[in-house]
Amino acid sequence: MRLKLRNIFLVYFVVSSAGLLYALLQLGQQCDCTRQTKPPHDVHRWENTRPRGGENLPVIYVVTPTHARPHQRAELTRLSQTLLLVPDLHWILVEDSAARTTLVADLLAQSKLPYTHLNTLTPPAMKLKDSDPNWLKPRGVEQRNEALRWLRENRSPTDHGVVYFADDDNTYSVKIFEEMRNTQKVSVWPVGLVGGLRYEGPLVTGGKVVGFHTAWKTHRPFPIDMAGFAVSLALLLNHPKAQFDPNAERGFLESSLLGPLVAVGELEPKADNCTKIWVWHTRTEKPKLKQEDLLEKQGKGSDPKILV
Ligand SMILES: *[C@@H]1O[C@H](CO)[C@@H](O)[C@H](O)[C@H]1NC(C)=O
Repeated sequence: MRLKLRNIFLVYFVVSSAGLLYALLQLGQQCDCTRQTKPPHDVHRWENTRPRGGENLPVIYVVTPTHARPHQRAELTRLSQTLLLVPDLHWILVEDSAARTTLVADLLAQSKLPYTHLNTLTPPAMKLKDSDPNWLKPRGVEQRNEALRWLRENRSPTDHGVVYFADDDNTYSVKIFEEMRNTQKVSVWPVGLVGGLRYEGPLVTGGKVVGFHTAWKTHRPFPIDMAGFAVSLALLLNHPKAQFDPNAERGFLESSLLGPLVAVGELEPKADNCTKIWVWHTRTEKPKLKQEDLLEKQGKGSDPKILV
């Protein structure tokens, strides 16, 4: 009887030790779990949050508003393949639409980028009409604010990150992403081919921003293009009300976000004290589809099943 009891204890000891050892080994494993608990809203995946890189760099959250147009897929392909070259980056793509579209969902799913796919429709009163010149109303305001809302709900101020508003029609060198990565508050750099100039950008003396090279509405508090600055995630999350003002006067959109966050003297000049151009405000020519319209009237238009 005594011997049996001892055997039972022995077996118990071996089994529980093995269990403990197994649990400890599991703890040491890399966790591939995502932080998102929200279920997908439709059959398409809308998030891929797998970490990349692995050097524990601050994550660059690239916020891109996008809207449907004939060259949307071309623009997003170009941008996504630039972003693929950047480690520890998370793309937040926000569609100006009532629902997330299959076109964008498929592009994101195939992009191999960590991403979040959001959508919000610009209220009709704020929307640019086809006949309006594109400078009449700011575009992408609601979408950028939606991304800010997502960041505030899904990230914490202790997460190391930086937020960059990257429209889908600009051209980006991979160098600009490494310049912005260690932003403390707000970092800035010049942008090429914007504001009717070869470039627009901060003027730097002794490593401090002392003014701006710009020719248009020079009285703006922050005469900086959307592509010319990045904001630390912590700063944005510690100012829960900071966002883009949909009613901001033309040219004042960037100032409406930055005003409450930072003073000009605190801006962190990047790109060799703002002497290098690593981002360009290129614009894609609007495709002319006159022949398409003509053929469509004859019922001979291009195959709608072929995604362009
Ligand atoms: C920027 O300018 C400051 C002050 O002149 C200098 O100390 C610093 O090294 C410069 N930075 C770069 C990256 O050139």
